[in-house]
Amino acid sequence: MTSTNSTTLNCPSTRVSIIGAGKVGSTLAQRIAEKNLADVVLLDIVEGWPQGIALDLMQARGVERHDRQIVGTNNYTDTANSNIIVIAAGIPRKPGLNREDLIKINAKIVTEAAQQAIAHSPEAILIVITNPLDVMTYLAWEASGLPKHRVMGMAGVLDSARFQTFIAMELGVSIAEVNATVLGSHGDLMVPLPRYSTVSGIPISQLMDAGTIDRLVDRTRNGGVEVVKLMKTSSAYFAPASAACLMVESILLNQSRLLPCSVYLDGQYGVQDIFLGVFCRLGYQGIEQILELELSDTERAAFADSGKLVLQTIESAKLILEKAH
Ligand code: NAI
Ligand code: 2OP
Repeated sequence: MTSTNSTTLNCPSTRVSIIGAGKVGSTLAQRIAEKNLADVVLLDIVEGWPQGIALDLMQARGVERHDRQIVGTNNYTDTANSNIIVIAAGIPRKPGLNREDLIKINAKIVTEAAQQAIAHSPEAILIVITNPLDVMTYLAWEASGLPKHRVMGMAGVLDSARFQTFIAMELGVSIAEVNATVLGSHGDLMVPLPRYSTVSGIPISQLMDAGTIDRLVDRTRNGGVEVVKLMKTSSAYFAPASAACLMVESILLNQSRLLPCSVYLDGQYGVQDIFLGVFCRLGYQGIEQILELELSDTERAAFADSGKLVLQTIESAKLILEKAH
């Protein structure tokens, strides 16, 4: 089944294609269209599903009053000439599915999606959301053949947003002036950096005691798990979609925002040949610059541990993929 919406994308305009029209993908489509950032193509393997979501989002235009086109499809030809491809296709960790099986399934989905999408949009920038994030971003980069400044994973913006939220909730202040930093991998070994976290420019260490900061750091590390425990049949998707939309916005509007993204490291922070979360400048060309913050010995060690785990998982993912062929 190809696209069924009566409205087709028949004039050149900024276009974002989202592979995987599940909870994250469809919420991201809504954010992008309602922020008037781009037309959106939603692609999924389930026939009818992305077409239905796209039609529903199009019908909402009668209320939202934007003129962005949203098309649902099962066919990659409809994604042609996208400025950005977002991969949010995959399956979540479920009971009875071991880590190796999850990697095998998502690696196949992500590598095929990257190859097919980039074949139709060779100039696109690729943003990966599928978990395990840093590993899937690496595999998507390899499969796409794109230069490293055009491939990135979304996690740091989400993890930092969670840290910001918990700081604002703890202090009872508006989130507007809260900035918090989380680098490293998206998982248990992520690296929240209280030293680089402030409220109205005031370091949080001057606003709360060490025990409180540790508690908020811990809650940030478990931010995704806490949501899953409550919802049971789903992982988070509103905050992930908001985080991905911020990256899309910085690229499309050439804002050059400094955002934590999972990017290819080639010696920065002493780390080689993996994707890991660091601050980078995000603009129309993709990753314009990778920033190397000054880290204490403890922070640097935590970052290195985070990288080691990602490296091990990339190596085992490559073995799993080799065995599968
Ligand atoms: P979901 O299950 O709601 O959606 C996944 C969609 O992918 C489904 O509609 C499914 O039909 C589709 N799909 C599966 N195989 C496909 C293929 N070969 N081609 C096209 N579409 C395909 O899952 P949800 O909640 O949207 O999450 C998606 C992924 O994002 C998961 O891997 C999840 O763990 C990850 N995630 C990552 C976050 C991050 O911070 N990086 C945050 C939240 C979710
Ligand atoms: C999250 O952090 C599941 O990675 C996803 O919510």
